[in-house]
Amino acid sequence: MSCSKSKFHSSRLIFTGDMGDKKILCAGLVCLDIINVVDKFPEEDTDSRCLSQRWQRGGNASNSCTVLSLLGAPCGFMGSLAHGPVADFIVGDFTKRGVDISAVAWQQEGETPCACCVVCPASGSRTVLLSDMNLPDVTADDFSKVDLSQYKWIHLEGRNADEQVKMIQKVVLYNSKLPEEHKITISVEIEKVREPLFQLFPHGDVVFVSKDVARHFGFCSAEAALKGLYSKVKKGAVLICAWAEKGADAMGPDGVAVHSDAFPPEALVDTLGAGDTFNAAVIFTLSNGGSLKHALTFGCQVAGRKCGVHGYDGIVAK
Ligand code: ADP
Ligand code: FRU
Repeated sequence: MSCSKSKFHSSRLIFTGDMGDKKILCAGLVCLDIINVVDKFPEEDTDSRCLSQRWQRGGNASNSCTVLSLLGAPCGFMGSLAHGPVADFIVGDFTKRGVDISAVAWQQEGETPCACCVVCPASGSRTVLLSDMNLPDVTADDFSKVDLSQYKWIHLEGRNADEQVKMIQKVVLYNSKLPEEHKITISVEIEKVREPLFQLFPHGDVVFVSKDVARHFGFCSAEAALKGLYSKVKKGAVLICAWAEKGADAMGPDGVAVHSDAFPPEALVDTLGAGDTFNAAVIFTLSNGGSLKHALTFGCQVAGRKCGVHGYDGIVAK
């Protein structure tokens, strides 16, 4: 068989051939996070001091790139930016992390999004106020300019879903001309409770659905969400649902729910981006031919370590 170099095992759900140094592309939001660490969440209309404050590159897809690069996976980011000091900071940080940004869509109008974040280690909460107002999103036209042959996996953070479905159709067409072991795997994240995003369910080989969306559909646990939502994904797809300190569950075409407990850090420090970290570690494992169980466990381990540090440095075990 011509599969001799591929990593395919019949027990694996994701067929990953020998893709050499092909990259993982994460498409979605990048923003500036101004992170205020507080000992107690401030009361409205008070004037208090934070324990520390820092600028950090944020946005789900952007954060997942940070984690992938820390894990040693070649990766690229696709999203919108507008020239200016905020974008300079963001580009500098992508560069420092070795994330390829050749697919960034530089917009002529609008401002790069910025989030005021309040991180409270005492409660483990992270509160985000995001200005994401007038910067146009990446379109399917922008996506047409991407050289798909560079990638083995494309992850889309659900945003402008109508356009994102068109992007996925381009990947499906590209894949249709390739042997199984060279096809690009597509994952989508449905995190926000926004009706248009739900059209993404049948478009991912791997679908990450958030606790918020699961609750919106009336489910009170990850396992219940998988059972209730699995009929929405396409045949053969994997559905994954993370549930904070309860860990995460996943279901593949065999209909069996796989679970990993969370790995709580010694002290909870910063949960901002825990979900993005989890997604990256899961994608990392699956894209290297790992099993679903291993991917979930690794996802929870890395996300747990992330909750124990400020930012992302230190999340990879030495
Ligand atoms: P987010 O709110 O950032 O989307 P999730 O709630 O989806 O994050 O959690 C993602 C993963 O992060 C969980 O599956 C878990 O492994 C880890 N995690 C999140 N919060 C905690 C916590 N308080 N303790 C331990 N692990 C956590
Ligand atoms: C974390 C995050 C932050 C950003 C916010 C946007 O998951 O991506 O970096 O400010 O969510 O919703």
